[in-house]
Amino acid sequence: MPEPLKLKSPADFIGKQGPGVISFGSGQPDLPPPKEAFEGVNLNRDLRYGLIQGELKLREALAKEYPGSTPENFVITNGASEALDLIFRIWGKGAKVLLPRPYYYSYPPILEMANMVPVYTDLIDGRIDMDDFKKKVKGCKAVLINSPSNPTGRVEEIETLKAIEKITKEQGVYVVSDEVYKDLIYERENYPIHGDHVITVNSFSKTYCMCGVRVGYLWSADKKIIDDVCEMKTHTSMNTNLIGQDMALAAMKAPKEYIDHQKLIWRERRDFIYKGLLDLGFDLWKPEGAFYVLPKCKNAREFLTVLYQDYKVITYLGEWFGAPDRIRLSYALDVKQIEEGLSRIRQALKKVCVF
Ligand SMILES: Cc1ncc(COP(=O)(O)O)c(C=O)c1O
Repeated sequence: MPEPLKLKSPADFIGKQGPGVISFGSGQPDLPPPKEAFEGVNLNRDLRYGLIQGELKLREALAKEYPGSTPENFVITNGASEALDLIFRIWGKGAKVLLPRPYYYSYPPILEMANMVPVYTDLIDGRIDMDDFKKKVKGCKAVLINSPSNPTGRVEEIETLKAIEKITKEQGVYVVSDEVYKDLIYERENYPIHGDHVITVNSFSKTYCMCGVRVGYLWSADKKIIDDVCEMKTHTSMNTNLIGQDMALAAMKAPKEYIDHQKLIWRERRDFIYKGLLDLGFDLWKPEGAFYVLPKCKNAREFLTVLYQDYKVITYLGEWFGAPDRIRLSYALDVKQIEEGLSRIRQALKKVCVF
């Protein structure tokens, strides 16, 4: 057995490519952005400073997608990542944030860097356990919800989302709803949590396949939150890059079929990888949204090492997502590559005992 790789986080794998490498790592769509996106760029206009809150035209377009909203409800950020970072940093030290576990790997570091304290509620069978949620939400400043979820691929039931919306409102707790996968649901319509106590985070990275462009946004009905976020952004990143904002605005003009077509592709890949991993003997949840699977896997670090060093296959450790004894695979790959990846996984299974 090789010495397991000493990886602290996905940092060593993000963006990694190379001849023969099959990466089930990064959640980066390999599909093209809508062609409209490229039509928006205007370098004569885009090489200046812009409004901290984000370009008005983009906020106007977003306001049409959020009933009852105005451009003042939005801040355009450098990806959803910056939106999450700014929100928690405006709330100050020591406040508790309820976090379902497994979670997106950046959540705990973002909270810790904001000097906030994560309180964990463990998912049951990949879903929020409302009994535990109700006990632990008391005294929290906010809860952080992500449905569809990275890494579980689960979509919370509408009743659960409505219950969270109600309980938090009654208790004066904010909900930060990370909806970056809102358009990638295979099973049913989305239910966006809403209300004055909700801060919605979203992104152009996944829906429009523009991860590297780094455009996301947050929505809030609370003017003070918008003002505080803008004040912090003024002294950190300043405006979000204008080329990206123009591309984002233009991408929104793509016909609805662009997203519908992608969903068909994601669903086909989901079906393929789900069946493939089941056939190999893995125990996993069937994804209902996003593009991740989180199979159970003993000796995960050894397995990840063998997969990477001997078979050039990148996977992520479940422990980075608060799920030890699991590995996470993103299926943002075409079916041929998924097939090849699965065949290499089959080989690696002969070397490491994972079941
Ligand atoms: C749940 C979740 N939130 C936020 C992000 C960050 O997205 P962005 O590229 O918009 O910063 C990701 C990226 O994978 C994610 O999975």
